[in-house]
Amino acid sequence: MEVKLTLLVVSLLVSAVVGQLEVQKCKKGAIPNKLEIEGCTKAPCQIVNGQNLRFKAEFTNPKATKTLTAKVIARVAGLIIPYELPAEHRDGCKKLTNAKCPLADNQSVEAAGDVPVDSPISNVKANIEFQLHADSGIAVCFKIDAKIVK
Ligand SMILES: *[C@@H]1O[C@H](CO)[C@@H](O)[C@H](O)[C@H]1NC(C)=O
Repeated sequence: MEVKLTLLVVSLLVSAVVGQLEVQKCKKGAIPNKLEIEGCTKAPCQIVNGQNLRFKAEFTNPKATKTLTAKVIARVAGLIIPYELPAEHRDGCKKLTNAKCPLADNQSVEAAGDVPVDSPISNVKANIEFQLHADSGIAVCFKIDAKIVK
């Protein structure tokens, strides 16, 4: 019993479950309170190269901000693979569904939308980091394991 509890605590420290999806924390930024990725209820998510990834997230914006800028970093075997979010997908304010920028301290917001998947390689396991930059640093960030398929 004690061993089980210890294991549970350890796994909670390493990763966190939001909704049903298991995500990892980044060095900076809070993880979303809730996250849904269409077609994925359990990591690693299968991500189809060349298609859009639909997501829905709820998070608490820690510090008042006028802007939210999304950034995606994909890693394969620990190496960053080049990926630039197209300009029309970088403005996080445009993905908010229950609020408008500017946002207040600790405001609860919901976001939803599409992220185009465009990887130079397929059939690899990747770790995808999503960052949402506010005026004063990274507000929200999480990493999720994925498999990029054709
Ligand atoms: C926001 O939340 C933090 C942590 O719970 C708290 O310390 C801070 O006072 C809150 N700010 C406002 C404006 O409510």
